[in-house]
Amino acid sequence: MSANGYDQDGCHQHDPHELGDHHGHRDADSDWVAMADLLEVQGETNSSYVRQALAELDYRSPRRILDIGSGPGVAACQLASTFPGAEVIAVDNAPELLIRAEERAKRLGVRLGTRTAEFPDGVADVGSADVVWSAQVVHHVGDQQAALHQLAGLLTPGGVLAIAEGGLPSRYLPRDLGFGRPGLQERLDAAMADRFSQMRDELPGSVAVAEDWPGMLRAAGLTEVRSRTFLVDHPAPLDDGPRRLVRLVLERYRQAVGELLDAEDLTTLDRLLDPLDAAAVDRRQDVFLLAATTVHYGRRAGR
Ligand SMILES: C[S@@+](CC[C@H](N)C(=O)[O-])C[C@H]1O[C@@H](n2cnc3c(N)ncnc32)[C@H](O)[C@@H]1O
Repeated sequence: MSANGYDQDGCHQHDPHELGDHHGHRDADSDWVAMADLLEVQGETNSSYVRQALAELDYRSPRRILDIGSGPGVAACQLASTFPGAEVIAVDNAPELLIRAEERAKRLGVRLGTRTAEFPDGVADVGSADVVWSAQVVHHVGDQQAALHQLAGLLTPGGVLAIAEGGLPSRYLPRDLGFGRPGLQERLDAAMADRFSQMRDELPGSVAVAEDWPGMLRAAGLTEVRSRTFLVDHPAPLDDGPRRLVRLVLERYRQAVGELLDAEDLTTLDRLLDPLDAAAVDRRQDVFLLAATTVHYGRRAGR
C-alpha cells in the first residue's frame, strides 16, 4: 500500500498495502489478493482524488482506456463512469482481483473489460489506448524507468499517461493518543519507509533511480509533463467507511512492521486494534483520514 518522497492514498509508497511479497508471481498475487478488502475500501475512501485527477486529464472523448494494476477496480469503474463512451480495460496480474473488478462494474452498472497480464512485459499485447492510468504500481517493478517506457509505448499519438506515485504518507492518528508514547504514526511511517526500501531492493531486476517522476516521464519520451497533488480529507469523527479503512491499515501495519516497533509502541498499537478496548480505532472520536496523492501526467506527441 503504499508511499521516498512518498507515493497514495490513495495509496502511498509507505502505506502498508505497498508491501506485497515480490519474490515470485504466485506469492505476489496471493498477497495482493489477501489485501483485496483493504484495496477496495481504500479506493472507495479516496475516490475523490481519482475524480479530481481525471478532471485534469486533458483528453477529450478517449475511445480506449487502460488501468494498469487496477486491483479490485475502484478507479477503473470511476474511469468507466466518467467516460461511458470509452472501452475501459482493467489490467492486473491477479485474476481474483479482476473478478472483484467485474463484480463491482456489474453492481455499479458500468461497462468494464478485464485482462490478466504481468506488467511490464505482458502488457505489450493489451493494445494501445488514448488514456493509460496506473496508480501505485510502477514502484512495484524492478526497473521503474523501463516500466514507464512500456506504459508510454501503449499510448496512441496525443494520448495521456497518468501515474499516481508520490505525495505524502496518510495521517490517521492524533500525535498524542492519551496513552503510549506520542508520535506513534511517525514511527510507523519510518518503519514502513524502511520496509519499502527493502521491498524495492528485493524486486527482481531492481534498478536504483532518482525518483524524479516528471523527469522519468520525459525520459520515456512524453511531453507536456505536469504533476498535481490531490487532497483527501475525512475529518474526525469518521464515518464507517473511512473508519474501517483505518482499522484495515493498522492491522496491516501490525503485520508488516510490528516486529520493528518497541514494546511500548506495540502495546499501543494492540490497544488501538483491540475491539474490546474503549480506546480502539473503531470507537475513538479523534481518528481522521488525511491523504495527499500526486498524479504525474505526460502526453505522447502527435495527433
Ligand atoms: C498498490 S495496488 C494498487 C491498486 C490500484 N491501482 C489502486 O490504486 O488502488 C498494486 C496493484 O498492482 C498489481 N500488480 C502488482 N505488480 C504487478 C505486476 N507486475 N503486473 C500486474 N499487476 C501487478 C497488484 O495485483 C495490485 O492489484
